[in-house]
Amino acid sequence: MRATAVAPATGQGQETAGVAIGIDNVAVTFGGGAGKIRAIDNATLDVREGEFLTLIGHSGCGKSTLLRVVADIIDPTEGSVSILGGSPAAARKARLFSMVFQQSVLLPWATVLDNVRLPFRVGGGVRGGADAMDPMEALRLVQLEGFEKALPSELSGGMRQRVSIARALVTRPRILLMDEPFGALDELVRDALNVELLRIWKQSGMTIVFVTHSLHEAVFLSQRVVVMSRRPSRIADILEVELPEERGLELKDAPELGRQVARLRAMLDAG
Ligand SMILES: Nc1ncnc2c1ncn2[C@@H]1O[C@H](COP(=O)(O)OP(=O)(O)O)[C@@H](O)[C@H]1O
Ligand SMILES: [Mg+2]
Repeated sequence: MRATAVAPATGQGQETAGVAIGIDNVAVTFGGGAGKIRAIDNATLDVREGEFLTLIGHSGCGKSTLLRVVADIIDPTEGSVSILGGSPAAARKARLFSMVFQQSVLLPWATVLDNVRLPFRVGGGVRGGADAMDPMEALRLVQLEGFEKALPSELSGGMRQRVSIARALVTRPRILLMDEPFGALDELVRDALNVELLRIWKQSGMTIVFVTHSLHEAVFLSQRVVVMSRRPSRIADILEVELPEERGLELKDAPELGRQVARLRAMLDAG
């Protein structure tokens, strides 16, 4: 049952109240003939507006594939996705979402500030209009003030990933899609960035869809964790995380976090 639609976000279709991303019976098959791979079998899921939702599952189960369908990078073989009432293509054109990958894809010859400004240069020049963020403000949000003139090669892995996040935020997207953004970082850096990401999420009111294979990271960050089964992947289960709203570093080692991780592990084993 769909609730009555409110204001259309994109001029295409109608926005369903409270739903940021509607994934409806999505299946993805790669290739044909004997080499055919059914990556996602049948995924249906509503991501609520303002929610922090994580997809988790074994390597190769289709997490990135599902995120790419949402991001309009690949088309589903079956089913459909709607983003704030419109198609993924319309959402991409309207810059309703940004994406962050595991490897920070920065231009090596451009300064930190120019890398953050990049979204205003590609795809139609000056789009730094009224609703965009000042690139310096984006750098402040990720605590990189003072590094605007540095080159990517002068930064640590964690700092480079912060630049990627600033670049994703600079268009003020309503949705942030993150595919294992901290997967290549060491644990201490990852912990610090987890806390920062939660702060940014709260300040911005964005919807975040996050992918990880770390159970601890999934539980620590999320309001809901969606468990994907092995290929061909289905949505096997959903964990409603029962942890306080305020989550600081100390929670990483707390027994209540451990209990949520154990519940999640049981769901993964059953899926
Ligand atoms: N472009 C592609 N062509 C063929 N197979 C692909 C392609 N992308 C992903 N796959 C396959 O689909 C499955 C899911 O991949 P992926 O979504 O990357 O998994 P995950 O992100 O969960 O590790 C894997 O078996 C992978 O090899
Ligand atoms: Mg992946």
